Amino acid sequence: MSTSVLRTLPRVLPRAVRTYASRASPLTSPVSGLCGAIGNTPLIKINSLSRETGCEVYGKAEFMAPGGSVKDRAALYIVLDAEKKGLIKPGGTIVEGTAGNTGIGLAHVCRARGYKCVIYMPNTQSAEKINLLRMLGAEVYPVPAVPFADPQNYNHQAARHAEKLDNAVWTNQFDNVANREAHILTTGPEIWTQTRQTGLDGFICATGTGGTLAGTTRYLKDASGGQVQCWLADPPGSVLHTYVQTKRERMERTGNGSITEGIGQGRLTSNLQPDIDLIDDSLHIEDEASIAMVFRMLDEEGLYIGASSALNLVAAARMAQKLGKGSKVATIICDGAARYQTRLFSRKWLESKSLLSAIPSHLHRYIVLP
Ligand SMILES: Cc1ncc(COP(=O)(O)O)c(C=O)c1O
Repeated sequence: MSTSVLRTLPRVLPRAVRTYASRASPLTSPVSGLCGAIGNTPLIKINSLSRETGCEVYGKAEFMAPGGSVKDRAALYIVLDAEKKGLIKPGGTIVEGTAGNTGIGLAHVCRARGYKCVIYMPNTQSAEKINLLRMLGAEVYPVPAVPFADPQNYNHQAARHAEKLDNAVWTNQFDNVANREAHILTTGPEIWTQTRQTGLDGFICATGTGGTLAGTTRYLKDASGGQVQCWLADPPGSVLHTYVQTKRERMERTGNGSITEGIGQGRLTSNLQPDIDLIDDSLHIEDEASIAMVFRMLDEEGLYIGASSALNLVAAARMAQKLGKGSKVATIICDGAARYQTRLFSRKWLESKSLLSAIPSHLHRYIVLP
């Protein structure tokens, strides 16, 4: 800008601009490429839930990650770990069996670091998901949806695909502990730093691979000397709620399956196993509460979030109430609603799941799809 132009600018900023400028957090230095932009998401105080509970409820805005979900962190650390261990060299191939966000995270990271990406998924998945992965440059194999015990299950096919290639890695997100490591090194420290002014009493989230809950819990327990309560939030159909409630004696399903995607487990993964004894308690969250929270967050906060994130926020508000007035609880807003919109905002789909009546009538105006 020339100095003559500079001279014509007002010396004092208008009041509105000054107000916003003073609220902005300090900007950090530029980051290196897409991978440098993974992590460091804002921690959002959810004002409506905080007011309602008389507590402070915070959600980590993972929908702001470059690939749009919390799984970008796992994808990056799994690839970095394979590089560090010499398992993959430039031009190699990353193979994973995934129906969702991990594949999207891996596809982004593979483009950014010069690898091919191959994804196996059940052929029951939406065309949007398959198309998005292909648009991101991944090779996608939709295969028949068969149980994990069947050798044709998409996870086993992914493992065999990698075995057949030179310079290829099956990333195995469920049992590859580089996933948990991502959250020990990033999510945990970020939440701890972001709550230094306010304090933090609790952390809660649901598990798919368990990487987020395990890694974040490990860090927060270490940093707080065990003071931060760390709880599991579990959807219907998962076995982990009974496991925590029975002090690791029994693993039985609570309920019959859930509309939430990416969460709920039938076993203890290698990612969760090392930290399961640090989990203080668990809450079972019913789908009716999760779906109502999707619509409530849209209406009251302008937050367009997926069902696993909504489940986490229901859980965080309940945990805060249990911990008592004034308590501060953080959770994860795993991804946005765009990936699920043809289901979550469809009247027919909600009816088919018997969930229409769970949504308060004043929020039905958001159900815009037939
Ligand atoms: C939408 C969504 N929420 C939550 C999770 C659970 O995260 P984690 O695998 O770290 O347990 C996943 C995992 O794929 C997910 O896709």
